[in-house]
Amino acid sequence: MIEELPITSWTGPFDEGVRQRAVTALESGAVLFFPQLPFQVRDEEREFLDTRVSDGRAKNISLDPSTGRLQATALTGEKAQRLAAMIERFGAGAAGLISALLPYRNIERARTSYRPVQVKGRSYSKISDDRLLHVDAFPTRPMHGRRILRFFANVAPPGSPDAGLRRWQVGEPFEDFAGKFLPRVSPHMPGKSWLLGKLGVTRGTRSLYDELMLSLHDAAKLDEDFQKTSPQEAVSFPPGSCWMVFTDQVLHAALGGEFALEQTFHLDIDQMAEPARAPLKVLERLSGRELV
Ligand SMILES: [Fe+2]
Repeated sequence: MIEELPITSWTGPFDEGVRQRAVTALESGAVLFFPQLPFQVRDEEREFLDTRVSDGRAKNISLDPSTGRLQATALTGEKAQRLAAMIERFGAGAAGLISALLPYRNIERARTSYRPVQVKGRSYSKISDDRLLHVDAFPTRPMHGRRILRFFANVAPPGSPDAGLRRWQVGEPFEDFAGKFLPRVSPHMPGKSWLLGKLGVTRGTRSLYDELMLSLHDAAKLDEDFQKTSPQEAVSFPPGSCWMVFTDQVLHAALGGEFALEQTFHLDIDQMAEPARAPLKVLERLSGRELV
């Protein structure tokens, strides 16, 4: 479930054995863990390791790398610019690492986020509670089978509660999970996806794949028995480490921690070394129908 890569460089070059191990583990549904790869917060950036940089409304501060627009921060002016620069440095570093470590020639860098608020003790509706095991699927962002790859860094400062650990649970393999839930999730409503697209609720129209992934996401979170009894493992990521995972494939729950950075990437499945491992292909195999 966890593949540890003791690399210390963000830029490589990495030898072929390391690159091969990385892509095989990642596509098989492991979490790639980099225990010796700290993201360096500079001295003058330490002031941003403070929950008050958040505007208190959204879970995360986000940066759109294509426009440089920063959202959900309480900071303004020069401070907001310096925070954006820190988040951008992380996002660019993650993109550089991925291009040196993984064989994907065409990978899209999506949003970068900064998560300064403690996970534990926040209150949510069940569907938006990421402390429950789930695979990522987003109501407003249809993927049409494209992959969601996420790269994280724990930047909690010394003296943080619980030693600054970011605590996750990681669940059973995607195919086991999907096999269990597919017969139970509600069937696609014809016309609904088209309507949501037309109304501008979704960016483009949801495919059957997107509807199914959303249903799986919700069904898993709402099933208390599954949350308690399905096979799962506790993992903790210490300050100064990074990790990367296909979050549309790997069941995960974030139970605790504060001060993490995250970069999302989107990937066409034809870029994968083994496209048959993509959730789209697994769901098409299990359901016996085309989903995009
Ligand atoms: Fe998630």
